[in-house]
Amino acid sequence: MKRKIRIGAFISGGGSNLQAIIDACEAGRIDGQVVFVASDNPKAGGLERARKHGIPTFVVDYSAIIRQYRENPDQITPPADFDLDEMWLKQHLFEPGTPWNTVQAFITTRAAAEAELLKKMAVFKTDLLVLAGFMRNLSPYFIDRFNIDEAHPRIMNIHPALLPVFPGVDGYGDTFRYGCKIGGCTVHFIDYGEDSGPIIGQKAFTIAEDDTLETVKQKGLALEWRLYPECIQLFAENRLETITLTHTKDNGEVMQRRVVKIAQAK
Ligand code: GAR
Repeated sequence: MKRKIRIGAFISGGGSNLQAIIDACEAGRIDGQVVFVASDNPKAGGLERARKHGIPTFVVDYSAIIRQYRENPDQITPPADFDLDEMWLKQHLFEPGTPWNTVQAFITTRAAAEAELLKKMAVFKTDLLVLAGFMRNLSPYFIDRFNIDEAHPRIMNIHPALLPVFPGVDGYGDTFRYGCKIGGCTVHFIDYGEDSGPIIGQKAFTIAEDDTLETVKQKGLALEWRLYPECIQLFAENRLETITLTHTKDNGEVMQRRVVKIAQAK
């Protein structure tokens, strides 16, 4: 019998992608099982979906942590192995020149929340972590502690746009408002930036004259529910290799980029 990978999921909302992943596991389209579902939001509807399938859930309430920090920063104790300067140098979320207070508040509260997540998920021995509508950026604190082998990233995200365009919190909205004729969704490994890591798979749909933001979202989600299980199955089959490519542009600039190569099925 094939070994099943152990999948952890982070969600913030309704969890329709989570449902698609659970269903694909149960139907054998993913050689895996969802071993826990965690959320930053105690009210996330997806938590109930998980419970219905007997999957353990837990919550780390980010908003409460951020509120406490705002009231009095001393109320939030960052983890003992946390180094603010190291995190600042690694992250690609803030532009240079961002006020230090903003950076410090963000990185400290995230590390505190992430340490809690790491502690709670430790018992589940996870092979792959999937962000399924998780609306928080993970900081280098979390990423470095879960991605222990740099050559084998194992945190995936689904994004509602054809990256690298329209990163951020409203991919379909940005696509629609821009007047794009094609929209889509992307699954990628995460890195230290926002929606910027190596792309694993993408699917696209046509936007017609009579489409609305609502119909664009419906078209996109229907593709997400197919794309995410497909990409997770590639991981389960050990077919995703991350390599660094070096290119020289026409202007002589040399650029390096981490990309995913998909191996042929065995
Ligand atoms: C999905 O469209 C997903 O791509 C998006 O949130 C929605 C979650 O829906 N994710 C992001 O925007 C991440 N930046 P779901 O809770 O029904 O799966």
